[in-house]
Amino acid sequence: MAEYDYDVLVIGAGPGGYVAAIRAAQLGLKTACADGRETLGGTCLNVGCIPSKAMLHASEYFDAAANGAMAAMGIKVTPELDLETMHAQRRDAVKGLTGGIEFLFKKNKIDWIKGYASFEDAHTVSVADKKVTAKNIVIATGSSVTPLPGITVDNDKGVIVDSTGALELKAVPKNMIVIGGGVIGLELGSVWRRLGAQVTVVEFLDQLLPGMDGDVRKEAGKIFKKQGMTLKLSTKVTGVSVDGGKATVTVEPSAGGDAETLEADVVLVSIGRRPNTEGLGLDKIGLSVNQRGQIETDHDFATKVDGVWAIGDVIPGPMLAHKAEDEGIAVAENIAGMTGIVNHDLIPGVVYTAPEFAGVGLTEEAAKERGAIKVGKFPMLGNSRAKTNHEPDGFVKIIADAETDRVLGVWCIASVAGTMIAQATQAMEFGATSEDIAYTCHAHPTHSEAIKEAAMAVTGKPIHV
Ligand code: FAD
Ligand code: NAI
Repeated sequence: MAEYDYDVLVIGAGPGGYVAAIRAAQLGLKTACADGRETLGGTCLNVGCIPSKAMLHASEYFDAAANGAMAAMGIKVTPELDLETMHAQRRDAVKGLTGGIEFLFKKNKIDWIKGYASFEDAHTVSVADKKVTAKNIVIATGSSVTPLPGITVDNDKGVIVDSTGALELKAVPKNMIVIGGGVIGLELGSVWRRLGAQVTVVEFLDQLLPGMDGDVRKEAGKIFKKQGMTLKLSTKVTGVSVDGGKATVTVEPSAGGDAETLEADVVLVSIGRRPNTEGLGLDKIGLSVNQRGQIETDHDFATKVDGVWAIGDVIPGPMLAHKAEDEGIAVAENIAGMTGIVNHDLIPGVVYTAPEFAGVGLTEEAAKERGAIKVGKFPMLGNSRAKTNHEPDGFVKIIADAETDRVLGVWCIASVAGTMIAQATQAMEFGATSEDIAYTCHAHPTHSEAIKEAAMAVTGKPIHV
C-alpha cells in the first residue's frame, strides 16, 4: 500500500493552485486539490481578474456610445443600459472559465476535494471531515481584502463594499467613493464611472498606482481626472457611517489637518489584499508567517518544513495571477525533481482601464538608484495607429543601462498596453539592449511601433516626433 494518499496535494484552486495541480498531474504525479469554493479558479476566475474584465469590457462599449466616441466615427447611437444583461454576461464568463478548470481537472485525473484544509502534520490535512495524506503539500491559499479598521464591509447591503460587492452592484450609484487609488479602485471605479456614477477616489499617497514608474503615476492622475473622476490625493479616510442607505465618509489630509465629510451611495474599500493563512494550522507544522503575513519560501518555493511548499499571493511578491501561475508550474516541476524557475525581476503589471497602464522591470526611480541610465520616451500621439483610432493618451518609456544599453524597465500607457508589454518582457528576458529593440522590424500600423520608437529615443533618434 502506498505510504500516502497522493504524491501532491494542493491547497487552493486559484491560478497558482490549479496550475500547480495540472502540471503535477501532467508529470505523472498522483494529485489532489482542495478548495472550499463552489467553483474552481480561486479569486481570479470567480471574483477577480475575469469578472472585473467582463465589466470593464462591457462598460467601455457603453462609454464609447455615451461619450460621443462612436458618434465621432460616424456611428450614432443613444445607449440604454441593461445592467442585468451586463451582469449576466459577466456571470457567463465566470461560469465558462471555472467550468473549464473542472474539465481540465477531470481530464488530468486530479481529485477535487471540496472543503477548506487544515494541517494536522506536514503530510496530513483535515478537509471535508476526512484526513488526507500527501508526500508533498503545496499551500496556494491566495489572499483576501485588507479591511479598513472600524469600517464594516457588507456586500449584501451594497453600501460599503469590497471588490466582490462592487462587481455585483444592482444599480449604478449616483455617487461612489473609492478608498484607495490602486489597481482595484481605478479598474472598478472606471466601470461605474463609465456607466454614469460620479466617482471620487481618496488616496493616502500623493499619486495613484503605487509601485509604478513616477511618470506613469503622474500621467494616470491627469488621465483619470480628464475622464471625470475626482481625485483626493494625500488624503486618508478616518471613518464611514451609513444612514438610510447612504454613506458619509470622513476624510482628512494624510499629514493631518481639518476633516471634511463626503456623501456617497456606495463606498468601495480597496486598500490592498492580505495573504490567507488563518485556519490553515501552520502552527501544527512549525511554520510561521513574516511581518506581512506571508509564508516565506526559498527560490524553489519550498518552505522551511520538508515536503511543504507555497506559491502565489500567500508568498512575497506582486499579487498577480500570472505570477501565481508561473510559480504553480515551477513548484510542480521542482517536486518532480526538475528545475522550475520564475524570474521575479520580470513580472509585468497591467491596469486594465482605458487607456491601459503597464510596466515591467525597474521604474526610473529604482533604476537611477542602481546606476547611470538612459531614458527614451515616445508619445502615443506620434503613433499612427493610436492616432487613427482616436487614442491620443499615453506614451512608451524605455529605461536602459547607460553603459551596456541593456533594457532595465519598460512602461506603457496605451489602449493595448497590456498586450504591448509582453514583447518588452520577452526582450528583457532575452537580455535585449535598446538597440536590439530599435532595430527589430515591427508591423505597421500597430501600437507596438511605439516601443520601437521609444527604443530609438534612448539614443535620441525616433522618426515620428
Ligand atoms: P487565489 O486566486 O486567491 O486562490 C486561492 C484559493 O484558495 C481560493 O479559491 C480560496 O477559496 C482557497 N483557499 C483558501 N484557504 C483555503 C484552505 N484552507 N483550504 C482550501 N482552499 C483554501 N491579477 C492579475 O494578474 N490580473 C488581473 O486582471 C487581476 N484582477 C483582479 C481583480 C480583482 C477584483 C481582484 C480581487 C484581484 C485581481 N487580480 C488580478 C489578482 C489575482 O486574482 C490574484 O493575484 C490571484 O488570484 C492569486 O492566485 P492564487 O492562486 O495565489 O490565489
Ligand atoms: P493596491 O495595493 O493596488 O492599492 C491600494 C491603494 O490604497 C494604495 O494606493 C494605497 O496607498 C491606498 N491606501 C491604503 N490605505 C489607505 C487609506 N486608509 N486611505 C486611502 N488610501 C489608502 O490594492 P488594491 O487596489 O486593493 O488591489 C489589491 C491587489 O490586487 C493589487 O495589489 C494587485 O496585486 C491585485 N489586482 C491586480 C489587478 C491587475 O493586475 N489588473 C486588478 C485588481 C487587483
